[in-house]
Amino acid sequence: MDKLLEVNELTKRYSQGNVLTRVTLTAADHVSFYIKPAEIFTLAGESGCGKTTTAKVVLGFEEATSGTIIHNGKLQTRKEKVWITEGVQAIFQDPFSTFNPLRTVDRYFFETVQNLILAVSKQQAIELIDRKLQAVGLSYEEFAGKYPSEFSGGQLQRISIARALLTNPTLLIADEPVSMVDASLRMSIVNLFKKLRDELGVSILYITHDLATAYYVSDRIAIMFRGNIVEMGTVEQVLMNPRHPYSKLLRESIPQADPKKRWTTEITLSELEQEEYLRRGCKFAGRCPDVMEICKGVAPADIYVDDVLVKCHKYSSTQEI
Ligand SMILES: Nc1ncnc2c1ncn2[C@@H]1O[C@H](COP(=O)(O)OP(=O)(O)OP(=O)(O)O)[C@@H](O)[C@H]1O
Ligand SMILES: [Mg+2]
Repeated sequence: MDKLLEVNELTKRYSQGNVLTRVTLTAADHVSFYIKPAEIFTLAGESGCGKTTTAKVVLGFEEATSGTIIHNGKLQTRKEKVWITEGVQAIFQDPFSTFNPLRTVDRYFFETVQNLILAVSKQQAIELIDRKLQAVGLSYEEFAGKYPSEFSGGQLQRISIARALLTNPTLLIADEPVSMVDASLRMSIVNLFKKLRDELGVSILYITHDLATAYYVSDRIAIMFRGNIVEMGTVEQVLMNPRHPYSKLLRESIPQADPKKRWTTEITLSELEQEEYLRRGCKFAGRCPDVMEICKGVAPADIYVDDVLVKCHKYSSTQEI
């Protein structure tokens, strides 16, 4: 089986607070997953579980504390500046912050085309840009000369996807791409992801709070809780028949993304978050309806139940059989 991206035991630690209040938390704790070509893989979980941290390290925006990332069979190292540049594009949460309000959006496209020499004449550039816009359901005509404010959030998110497509990426990393888009337009964006997967063979790392769109669009999904992947498998297995108590709870009460939160948001840690991150045993033990004595002191291992990874003591005996 080909793997386009392999993330192995990725760990990222952050220190927070001042000298007196300093805590170190493991925002991504031995996170391992892979993405196949033409596959939509979702990372889901509530706010502060480490989704963006994982994406930032994969994109090379942050250095991992430990672990490896292999893209197209090549080990990525920041030190040697061998990093995913080719074939990977990021899509961010807030399309309005992607574009300067005082510049027309087409300028971004022409700049990319020029910098990467993707066309040799203006006419060729326009044709290329139009093709990419058509792929997201727009056209050059309805976009040329306009400012970001002249588009809706949904249109602008499509435009940022079209821009990402200029370089023919094989992997899109989309962090909460629909949380700032009107609920009525969310499906059209995730449908677009499906289309890119099916028609262009693009893989997508889809990061979301929204289990409804995740279910609709994903091939496989990983549920994260306080830095750990606690359950991972096909979307049918994990969302229709969740095994981890946290996945079950998440399915019942889907937490909403906070639209005010951005990538470079000020970092504040709630007391609950801190307590859970620093827990010795299972990080979910304090909220788990099925908690057992062992959960409080011993972190559970990864256990495979019917090909689904579940990090939970409840299933320990299953593995021994
Ligand atoms: N630069 C940083 N410095 C210190 N702590 C950080 C930093 N970035 C993230 N964290 C902490 O790491 C944890 C995981 O944060 P992260 O942003 O990855 O979560 P998330 O799952 O993307 O959340 P959200 O759904 O709100 O976007 C949080 O407790 C956060 O406060
Ligand atoms: Mg995030």
